Amino acid sequence: MSLQNPESRQPVLSVDNLTVRFNGAPANVVDGVSFSVQAGKTLAIVGESGCGKSVTSMALMGLLPATATVTASASRLLDEPLLGMPAERLLDVRGNRMAMIFQEPMTSLNPVFTIGEQIAESVMRHQGLARKAAMQRALQMLEHVRVPDARQRLDAYPHELSGGMRQRVMIAMALANDPKLIIADEPTTALDVTIQAQILALVSALQAQTGTSMILITHDLGVVAEVADEVMVMYAGQVVESGSVKTLFDDPQHPYTIGLMGSMPSIGPRQGRLATINGRVPTPAEMPSGCRFAGRCPFAISACREARPALLEVTEGHFAACIRAPLEQHLGASA
Ligand SMILES: Nc1ncnc2c1ncn2[C@@H]1O[C@H](COP(=O)(O)OP(=O)(O)OP(=O)(O)O)[C@@H](O)[C@H]1O
Ligand SMILES: [Mg+2]
Repeated sequence: MSLQNPESRQPVLSVDNLTVRFNGAPANVVDGVSFSVQAGKTLAIVGESGCGKSVTSMALMGLLPATATVTASASRLLDEPLLGMPAERLLDVRGNRMAMIFQEPMTSLNPVFTIGEQIAESVMRHQGLARKAAMQRALQMLEHVRVPDARQRLDAYPHELSGGMRQRVMIAMALANDPKLIIADEPTTALDVTIQAQILALVSALQAQTGTSMILITHDLGVVAEVADEVMVMYAGQVVESGSVKTLFDDPQHPYTIGLMGSMPSIGPRQGRLATINGRVPTPAEMPSGCRFAGRCPFAISACREARPALLEVTEGHFAACIRAPLEQHLGASA
């Protein structure tokens, strides 16, 4: 893709000031989040459990329950506004222009239909193919995601497959209609380590072939370093830092990002997982005003608790929301 062509710089997805609040909750669980995903690129969203990663992706897919109120200043998927699009149009867009791969494939595969029927159903719906052609496409997709004995597996039910095979089926289904954007929410966490690596390698290879953009939600910083182009770090529903993978790993600015990365163990079974920072993410009922991380931050001063820190551009394309950044200047004082 040529850099001279302004079309190629149009993001596939862009969201401005996304906010989600559940009925009765005293605070937003996603609070003013903005980001975009460029064509063919992967944006990783990282952050501890409860930071709002899944709620962000479910909001984009229009999959939150009616108890959630979703707002945004603007949102676009390719050439059309995304949030608030008519329900019927959303059914066309979902599984077609954008598709989702979930952590646990059993939650999104229907136990009473065969694998072949489920992939074919989606293809018939979105591409208008007749049943026979759709089954052919299903077979092709299973071969594409390297399911062995694909022809026999077409007639298998989800429970007859291993976890890794089910995840391959989910990926086949997600890719069957050539989506422009895939949202993968912890796609390998439920699998054992060798299978995780195989699935990630497969997703990367397929993404490179098809030029699909991806939002990858993961706890695994090793995966981020390997697969992502851009990273967005979320804490308690807000973006605390974002930038290219290289920038974030080489020059993290927010104490939360530094905590996640600094405590990343280099060996052992927890390799690459987000390690623990003292304390935990506040629930919506406990959400502090000011910086939401202040209660756990070794660098916090009283000003941190007074106002929400703005997400400021540190260097080109690198943003951080911390009034104490850069931290080097405080290291002597806090030691
Ligand atoms: N249906 C719901 N009703 C009320 N609150 C919800 C609902 N779904 C999520 N939440 C709350 O929204 C917040 C963000 O949850 P979310 O599932 O997005 O976290 P996450 O970053 O994906 O965490 P994890 O890494 O564990 O998957 C949490 O406080 C959670 O309790
Ligand atoms: Mg989640």
